Amino acid sequence: MRQVIFAANWKMHIAPAEVRSFAAAFLAQNAPSEGRTLWFFPSTVSIEAATTAFGGRPDIRIGAQDVHWEPKGAFTGATSIPLAQGAGATGALVGHSERRHVFGETDEETGRKVRAILATGLTAMLCVGEKLAERESGQTEAVCLRQLRAGLSGVGQDQWEKIVIAYEPVWAIGTGKNASPGDAATVHSAIRAELGRLGATGRRPVLYGGSVNQANIGQLLAEPEINGVLVGGASLDPVGWARIVAAG
Ligand code: PGA
Repeated sequence: MRQVIFAANWKMHIAPAEVRSFAAAFLAQNAPSEGRTLWFFPSTVSIEAATTAFGGRPDIRIGAQDVHWEPKGAFTGATSIPLAQGAGATGALVGHSERRHVFGETDEETGRKVRAILATGLTAMLCVGEKLAERESGQTEAVCLRQLRAGLSGVGQDQWEKIVIAYEPVWAIGTGKNASPGDAATVHSAIRAELGRLGATGRRPVLYGGSVNQANIGQLLAEPEINGVLVGGASLDPVGWARIVAAG
């Protein structure tokens, strides 16, 4: 049976007090479905509220938007994996383009984070994607595969089942422009081939992200190479998000 993942990246939105009303509105429209997993990535301060609000649903997982690779220490402003885990997170995004391009995270740092997440037994959702200039100069695959290799170096044989990849072209995030399903599927195939060369076991999920909405979800998921979606803006409204999940 096909497995599909719907991941909501709430970015710097939805306070703890708002999580409960979001969850009530969303859960009223959404029942568990076989083969479907839902992830919510709230702001760090809302992880615990989300863990509580969605707690009764085994198909729903909560993750952090970013973590530090060190388990503790003097890193003002950062969240360690054990701290996120203590609030209920069972996974984390790594290398989201906003972390890479707004906060200057390097390929090497994404790799450290992935290894630390896996060592703790959590799921790592590694984001890769090219900027517009890179796409226009024909470097899409080279950039994505470089980010993939750096992010996944040192993944142990028994750790692959905790890896999810999200292909998010930077020019498509929050812009209303999305990669055509065919273009996305081409990059997904290249990612899948690289995963094979890296020794990945099983069929790792490769999600698409970047301006996913109610109008394009059907076409995107019609591509067998696209195993789910990572959604920012359109995941902030509980009813709209439930509709996207239902349409998918
Ligand atoms: P968007 O964001 O859906 O608002 O384009 C996607 C993301 O950044 O994960």
